[in-house]
Amino acid sequence: MGITQTFGCRAQWDEHGFVSVPGLVDSDQVSALRQVCDAILRKHLANNPETNEPGDPDGRAMRHLNHPAYHEGDPDGLRLLLDTIADERILDLVNVILGERALFRCTTYWYNPVSAGKDGHWHRDIQFVYPDEADQRRIISEATPQESVQIMLALIETEDNEFVPGTHLRWDSEEEYRIRLGDDQANNRSDRMPGAVRFHQEPGDVIAFHPYGLHRGRYHVDKARRTLMLSYSTESAATEDYFTDQPWFLMPGYLNALEPDKQAFYRRFVDRYSSFWRR
Ligand SMILES: [Fe+2]
Repeated sequence: MGITQTFGCRAQWDEHGFVSVPGLVDSDQVSALRQVCDAILRKHLANNPETNEPGDPDGRAMRHLNHPAYHEGDPDGLRLLLDTIADERILDLVNVILGERALFRCTTYWYNPVSAGKDGHWHRDIQFVYPDEADQRRIISEATPQESVQIMLALIETEDNEFVPGTHLRWDSEEEYRIRLGDDQANNRSDRMPGAVRFHQEPGDVIAFHPYGLHRGRYHVDKARRTLMLSYSTESAATEDYFTDQPWFLMPGYLNALEPDKQAFYRRFVDRYSSFWRR
């Protein structure tokens, strides 16, 4: 990205809580990624190597697409995936939002369910960690520095993400509160959220949005969904949890196919978490 774009992205992020970059990833790479990710999804549904059980066709999301079990006999697929996570077009955007060099966190593939579709519920991600509303209010008002970013890269056309611009900076209005939390959350799948923006993404378009802002997804049986989500954090917000528990990075040769600058990007991830993986 050029300096004007970079400034524009940062200003948009600060004010609205999201950034939209159409066509960030070119169509050839998107087609190849779709093939690779769909092959991974098929393997996951047949057998999730993390649990040794079949994945859930109604599960809506699978993690850790870079698990080596998904790539046995297909090193090109793994290389494409790792190349994309460390793609400088994406990292430029993430680094601008974080205000520093990003650290890898994890991958997620969002797919449509086969039998149980529904509109997602409106939420702020902090409510899962802090159910107490007073804590949520405090965190929203503190305007803490951005610690993590999720990049939503559409591999097919989608309109399955909605966001309310500006809500990353402030507490819910009366109507927003009624929908998100009111009446024991009975209204949280409402289609009448004031000010909501539904993102339209063509393949290769990227959306980043602030997880503290009001948002929801849609999960419909009759609308194919294939969105690759790439998660990053700052070094200081690095967290040892399920998402970063990826000991396969210690396997000899795991990064060998990558260019040196991309190996260096993952080396920082390995350096930060290798003691966690060895424990
Ligand atoms: Fe969320």
